[in-house]
Order: sequence, then structure tokens, then C-alpha cells
Amino acid sequence: MKILAIESSCDETATAIIENGNKVLANIVATQIQKHRLFGGVVPEIASRMHAEKINFLIDKALEEAQMDLKSLDAIAVTYGPGLEGSLLIGVTAAKTLAKLLKKPLIPVNHLHGHIYASFLEERKPTFPFIALLISGGHTQLVLVKNHFEMEILGTTRDDAVGEAFDKVARFLDLGYPGGPVVESAATTGNEKAYHFPRALIKEKLDFSFSGLKTAVIQKILKEKKEHKQINTADVCASFQKCVIDILLTKSLRACETHQVHKLVLAGGVVANKAIRAAFTGMTEENNIELFIPEFKFCTDNAAMIGAAAFVHYQKFKFKKKNYMVKVNPNLSVLCN
Ligand code: KG4
Ligand code: ZN
Repeated sequence: MKILAIESSCDETATAIIENGNKVLANIVATQIQKHRLFGGVVPEIASRMHAEKINFLIDKALEEAQMDLKSLDAIAVTYGPGLEGSLLIGVTAAKTLAKLLKKPLIPVNHLHGHIYASFLEERKPTFPFIALLISGGHTQLVLVKNHFEMEILGTTRDDAVGEAFDKVARFLDLGYPGGPVVESAATTGNEKAYHFPRALIKEKLDFSFSGLKTAVIQKILKEKKEHKQINTADVCASFQKCVIDILLTKSLRACETHQVHKLVLAGGVVANKAIRAAFTGMTEENNIELFIPEFKFCTDNAAMIGAAAFVHYQKFKFKKKNYMVKVNPNLSVLCN
């Protein structure tokens, strides 16, 4: 069962060919970061235009890498939400056209499920039920995954997502875009105890809040500037990152304990952060929790994870009656299949 998967929800155009849900025959990611960097963030209009320019070439490239032709594909999968509407439209239009032309099933995939299924690309796969911590540029959620088709949101952010907080802090420090990797890199030489930032909602159950943290970091920098003090960027980044890690660890452990589920899956772009990966490895070892982390290249947006999620849907729904009426949904929830 060979699925061609297409992902274009934000600023990466990606294609992949996945065999039987976990064998990656091809995985191509074309990032637009260089273009958006000039503007300090993703410009939706530029993103969709660049997806349109690249998509055909990237489909060809995936086929070439897998040494296959279009006719040997069994299905086409595509991210239909959440994400930027114009960006999603490019991927969905390409997928629809190909599926119709080839008379193959079209499998619409929820991008957030894709992130969770990135862990199913590993040899050691999660078993149900498990808790997923979904941390990306747009989402921060704790999800109880009961089986492939039943999920429950245990906690969510009341304001900013974690990735967004990284991006905004980096922007304020003039470190560039995207914020996660640059803050992580600056933090490696910093003192994480130099500043104490607030751990918002730490005592409250499983919801998150990151806008207060972002504001506290900005206020601190402004205050030091006003007092003509030298800002130590590395210390600010290390203290900010430590604060984020403390919050994520506390809430994830609480979710596992409250729901008596001792399996934790990390999902989303922020999981590419080495300090976060190391902190979770330590915490889960101490608390006897089985941890599942995707490979680095499958943490940030990619199409391999979309192919992995699509395989599960294909197995259940078979898509015998071919439906090419897929519509994009920029605000899709993790609870939607
Ligand atoms: O999952 P993703 O690629 O796209 C969304 O679905 O949002 O996540 C992108 C987010 C960005 O906010 C980016 O700053 C963050 O993931 N990110 C990181 C790291 N690499 C990417 N955050 C912290 N540390 C990193 N190394
Ligand atoms: Zn994503």
C-alpha cells in the first residue's frame, strides 16, 4: 500500500511516499523560511504562491526518490487543515487533481493527527491509550488518545502556543525567524537561573498560558534597556526555555497521573528542541512513563507523518466510494477525523 502524501499547511511544501504506514520511501521538504525571514514571520500570500510554484516539482521528486511512477501509487493523502487557507488550498487542489486523474482514493488528513502519527514512523510504536503533548507554532494541547479514532482534549492553551512564544521572544531579541531553533541555540551558553519568569497556571489542572511569559520576558528586556544594563541574550533565552520546560513537564506528568496512562507521545515542531527532548527523557524515566519522540526530521512539518496518519484512515474507511469533494478547514480541531 503506497501512499503519496502532500503537506502545505504553513511554510513548508512537503511530499512523501509511505509504504504500509511506516516505511518512508521518499520524504521531501522545501522550506520557505528564507523568504519569510525578511518579514519576521510567515506572510500567507507569499506562502501560497511559493507552494504553487514548488508542488509539481516536489511530487516528481518524491516519485524519483522512491523510484516509482504515478501509476504504482495506491492513494493520495493531503493535509486539509488546520493551517493557512491559501496554503492548504494548493496542496488540496494538487492532491484532488492527481487522485481524480489516476482514479485513486483521496485521503484527507488532519495536520495535528499527522504530528501525533510521526511517532508511528519509528520502529517502537506507541500503543493505546496514550497521552499526546502537541506543541507546535499554532497549538499547545494535551490529548488523551484512546484509539486511532477517539481522542479527548485534556488541556489546551488559553492564549499563545509554545512555538509562538519562542517566535515572539526571538523576534523581540532580534534573533530572527523561526524563533525556536535560534532561542535554543542561544540558550546553550546561557544561565537558566539568571532570570525568574512566571510559570502561569502551573497549579491549575491541564490548561496552559504562554502570553504572560512572553510579556514578562519583553518587560524584563525593556527594563534592563531603560536602566542601561547590558542584556545577556543567552541568559534570557536559557531562563525562558527553562520556564517553558518546567511548565510542559509539570502538566504532562499531571495528565499521565490523573488519567493513569503511563505512555507519553511528543508531537509538533517544538519537539525538535534538544533541551525539551532531554528534559522529557529524564522526567519519564524517573516516573516510569514510556516516552515516544519522533526523529528530528519528523517533528517539524513534513509529509511523511501525513502518510502515516492516512494509512490508518485508509484501513478503516477503505475509501472505496471515491470522494473528491474535500474542502480545506483552516480551524480544524484535533478531534476531527
Ligand atoms: O509543527 P511546526 O513545524 O508547524 C506548525 O504546525 O505550527 O512547528 C513550528 C514551530 C515554530 O513556532 C518554531 O519556532 C517551533 O516549532 N520550533 C522550535 C524548534 N524548532 C521549531 N521550538 C523550539 N525549539 C526548536 N528547536
Ligand atoms: Zn505542524
